[in-house]
Amino acid sequence: MTLFSLNSDAQSMMTCLAARVARLIGVDGLNIRMPDRKIKEKSRASIDVSIIGAGRLGTTLAIALEARGYRIRSLVARRVENARKAAAHLDAEAAVLAARQIGSLPQADLVLITTPDDQIANVATKLSALNPGHKPVVLHTSGALSSEILSPLRERGWSTGSIHPLISVTDPQTPLEGAFWCVEGEPRAVRLAKTIVRDLGGTSFSINSAEKPLYHAAAVMTAGNVTALFDVALEMLVACGLTRKTARQILQPLLASTVHNLETKDPAHALTGSFARGDVETVKRHLAALKDHNLAEALDLYCRLGKRSIKLTKKQTRITQILDGC
Ligand SMILES: NC(=O)c1ccc[n+]([C@@H]2O[C@H](COP(=O)([O-])OP(=O)(O)OC[C@H]3O[C@@H](n4cnc5c(N)ncnc54)[C@H](OP(=O)(O)O)[C@@H]3O)[C@@H](O)[C@H]2O)c1
Repeated sequence: MTLFSLNSDAQSMMTCLAARVARLIGVDGLNIRMPDRKIKEKSRASIDVSIIGAGRLGTTLAIALEARGYRIRSLVARRVENARKAAAHLDAEAAVLAARQIGSLPQADLVLITTPDDQIANVATKLSALNPGHKPVVLHTSGALSSEILSPLRERGWSTGSIHPLISVTDPQTPLEGAFWCVEGEPRAVRLAKTIVRDLGGTSFSINSAEKPLYHAAAVMTAGNVTALFDVALEMLVACGLTRKTARQILQPLLASTVHNLETKDPAHALTGSFARGDVETVKRHLAALKDHNLAEALDLYCRLGKRSIKLTKKQTRITQILDGC
């Protein structure tokens, strides 16, 4: 089987279509997940895969790819017991290896490097010492790095690329359907990356490889930094006397409605609240309360982000001067 015969089959397309229809009719909104295992199908795309980095994304990809007919041949983690834990999620048996055993990696058509970013160069150097007998495709999943980091492998004839899902993965069952994936690299690697994305029910897009750090910083703003901001809001509600658990719970519908607004509207039109309305006295009360409770970090963030909100409204109000004085 060659890597060039990997187009997804009709069944795979039906599965992706079903996932999209489910989202359109709001099934996802009710938190009913598409049952990954039950939609398991025999895919023409079945190829041998090694996953180096059996952590959050590596394990999620192993499960999702196996469910689409890819054969997961091996899983590698820093510590072998972590690779074993990841392998326990799979139906078929996979070889489990510790990082130092990478020299015994079984042959594969595709090697996915899902280690932390800082380990990718190290893994590429180790892999370049192997003689795979053929020229596999190797893709890493970093958002900030381009495929250039895999140049030691490219020089040995491997086909190099990167495939980054714009999704936040915290547990192995995180659904990947509907995600957008940034792919780049050599043509053969990009072709396989796009096939994988299609098989996983996602959509691929590309940017200039040199822009990956900025692209990834935007992803961090949307996921990591929004989470950090949510944590600040929890701290403020705890200062009001609520428990963290209750605070988390009561903020969920507010956050969900904001995300919903952003799905359908540009930020300038999605913005609600005191800045959008220009409620000068309310903003003053907010600032006084933050100072009274000695919430210095929250005050700093409130003022900085408030300035961005005011910019979005395109209105000159007294709030601008008040925030400048923060
Ligand atoms: N999680 C996300 O939401 C997400 C989303 C998009 C992209 N990514 C990208 O995916 C990659 C992995 O992220 P993650 O969140 O899945 O990280 P993670 O949960 O920390 O998993 C990293 C895995 O790599 C293993 N590892 C570390 N050094 C290694 C080495 N030298 N050789 C082999 N395995 C090694 C670790 O082994 P141990 O378990 O033994 O420590 C662990 O299994 C990163 O490039 C990240 O940017 C992540």
